[in-house]
Amino acid sequence: MRYPGNSSLVGPPWLPRAALAAFILLGAASSPAQNQARPAGYAGSDTCQVCHDDLSKAFGKNPHHSVETGSKPAWKGLACEACHGPGAKHAESASAADIVNPAKQPAARTDEICLKCHLNQPTHAGRLRSSHVKNQVSCTNCHTMHQGPEKLRPTQAGDINQKCATCHNAVWAQFQRPYKHRLPEGAMSCTDCHNPHGSSLPRSIRTVAGNEPSCLRCHSDLRGPFAFEHAPVRLEGCTTCHEPHGSANPRMLTRREVRFVCLECHANIVAGPSLGGVPPAFHDLRSTRYQNCTICHTKIHGSYVDAYLER
Ligand code: HEC
Ligand code: HEC
Ligand code: HEC
Ligand code: HEC
Ligand code: HEC
Ligand code: HEC
Ligand code: HEC
Ligand code: HEC
Ligand code: HEC
Ligand code: HEC
Repeated sequence: MRYPGNSSLVGPPWLPRAALAAFILLGAASSPAQNQARPAGYAGSDTCQVCHDDLSKAFGKNPHHSVETGSKPAWKGLACEACHGPGAKHAESASAADIVNPAKQPAARTDEICLKCHLNQPTHAGRLRSSHVKNQVSCTNCHTMHQGPEKLRPTQAGDINQKCATCHNAVWAQFQRPYKHRLPEGAMSCTDCHNPHGSSLPRSIRTVAGNEPSCLRCHSDLRGPFAFEHAPVRLEGCTTCHEPHGSANPRMLTRREVRFVCLECHANIVAGPSLGGVPPAFHDLRSTRYQNCTICHTKIHGSYVDAYLER
């Protein structure tokens, strides 16, 4: 199988690429696949319908039906075989051994079948870096072809979460903690934060406005840029202090109380240069007055006016 540069110029293997362009220009109506004998090995979708009638009728509502009617001209009339490979032999033998089921192939092979047409889509730009690719999770692990639009492309948050949770049940369990985004309620989904196809950020974090983490799409008040940044927010990211999948601590913090989060870095110990500054001496940490750091340092994510993040 090949990865052609231009995904729209993909045809059956019997069609050389040079011929393909002419083939498309001439229009598929006059294609040999339509009018004369099928190319060797191919049976045509109408032949499949003879035995797979229900499935073929349902296919009329599948977005891929446009392939049958010419959206990918080289496959006009051959939509079934665009994914299942040449089927003439199978149409005679009716044996499963003679036909490709993409969902039963090794993951890389399945992906190739789909990427014949779905290459070069922006959503897939980070694919090679994603651990789905590296762990043999293929297109058909998440996309089911013949069971209706919601199974082909889930759009409801609840359906997406359920899909992801089948494999990531430990992550799903974290969303049952007391402080979390409202995924179990179906108000948000994994793909609000992750791009299931991979991304340019670690952990397949979805990007907004170029290369910012998806958090800022919704929490845009924290975007900045601030005159006075709080270094870890910008440099280390939100998950330095928050647990994105849910936490036992209010505000989804990594520690039970705010001050314990702060004192990880701002403690009265000999600190290396990468840590934050030590609070001034007047901060008597034994006094409850100073324990609640964010009473005074309210602009903990960055301030437009105050170097000490107080306003
Ligand atoms: C003569 C009847 C007949 C025709 C024509 C036919 N099939 Fe089938 N097909 C079957 C039968 C029977 C099975 C079930 C085989 C089994 O389970 O052993 C099957 C199974 C399949 C499977 C499942 C294979 C698997 O491993 O899960 C696919 C995919 C398939 N057919 C696609 C096609 C396509 C595409 C065409 C048209 C090119 C086609 N069939 C034409 C009878 C037919
Ligand atoms: C866009 C790719 C694609 C197209 C087009 C396609 N199929 Fe499939 N087909 C699949 C995949 C993937 C599966 C594996 C099960 C699933 O995902 O639903 C499958 C499964 C099947 C099966 C096995 C039974 C089942 O539901 O699991 C049959 C039979 C079948 N396809 C026949 C056809 C026929 C007939 C056509 C044309 C009308 C067709 N397919 C068009 C991708 C495709
Ligand atoms: C022959 C070309 C071709 C192949 C092969 C193909 N697709 Fe598609 N796919 C299309 C076209 C055309 C559409 C229609 C939507 C569009 O314009 O992009 C589509 C749409 C989709 C959609 C989006 C549906 C929606 O509601 O937006 C998904 C998901 C999808 N395909 C998954 C797959 C998977 C998974 C495979 C492999 C099993 C596959 N496709 C193989 C051409 C193809
Ligand atoms: C880990 C699960 C997962 C895998 C693996 C996966 N997808 Fe998706 N895909 C989704 C989900 C969920 C959506 C819908 C939600 C969204 O758009 O973010 C989607 C959306 C799509 C769409 C709709 C439009 C778009 O580009 O967002 C297409 C087309 C698509 N996938 C094709 C593919 C192909 C082709 C592969 C294999 C190379 C693949 N997907 C692998 C989960 C997955
Ligand atoms: C078929 C099983 C399966 C499904 C379904 C699945 N995943 Fe995964 N996912 C994996 C495996 C395996 C890994 C690699 C091991 C790990 O990190 O847990 C992984 C890794 C990840 C990672 C770590 C990414 C990285 O690059 O380090 C994220 C994020 C992720 N998946 C999100 C999702 C989302 C979102 C969905 C639903 C749209 C989903 N997964 C559906 C199996 C799956
Ligand atoms: C609010 C945003 C957000 C939501 C919603 C979300 N994640 Fe994440 N996820 C993250 C961030 C941020 C990381 C990176 C954590 C780190 O390592 O710093 C991550 C890491 C991961 C990882 C890799 C590390 C790990 O913890 O195992 C997986 C797998 C994962 N997420 C899967 C999922 C799944 C599945 C869902 C839906 C059930 C989901 N995520 C929902 C933000 C989110
Ligand atoms: C799709 C929108 C969306 C995205 C993306 C998102 N959030 Fe949220 N977040 C919300 C909403 C809405 C709330 C309000 C709480 C609720 O849903 O109950 C919230 C609440 C929070 C809270 C707790 C606030 C409180 O008062 O307890 C924290 C912390 C948080 N988000 C951090 C993050 C981080 C970190 C990321 C990225 C990894 C992120 N969010 C991504 C929508 C989002
Ligand atoms: C240095 C630690 C730290 C980092 C990094 C951090 N936060 Fe926070 N965040 C906090 C603390 C502490 C609170 C609780 C403030 C309070 O007590 O009211 C908080 C509260 C929140 C809240 C609740 C409402 C609000 O605005 O106070 C949201 C939402 C939030 N953070 C999102 C984020 C996002 C998104 C990021 C990444 C851009 C991020 N945080 C990075 C420490 C941090
Ligand atoms: C991951 C480490 C880390 C955590 C956690 C952290 N900070 Fe910081 N903080 C820093 C660094 C680094 C600086 C910059 C220090 C510098 O420029 O000398 C800084 C700067 C500050 C400043 C500005 C003063 C100055 O010297 O520029 C204040 C005030 C502050 N932090 C308060 C807090 C509070 C309150 C918390 C808890 C909600 C907190 N920090 C959590 C690392 C951290
Ligand atoms: C009652 C208000 C108040 C509380 C509570 C408070 N601070 Fe401060 N903090 C201040 C003020 C005012 C300054 C500025 C001091 C100055 O002008 O030199 C400051 C300065 C700082 C600085 C910057 C030190 C420097 O010189 O760069 C850090 C770091 C800091 N605080 C951390 C904390 C931490 C951590 C906590 C919680 C354990 C906390 N603060 C609680 C009022 C407070």
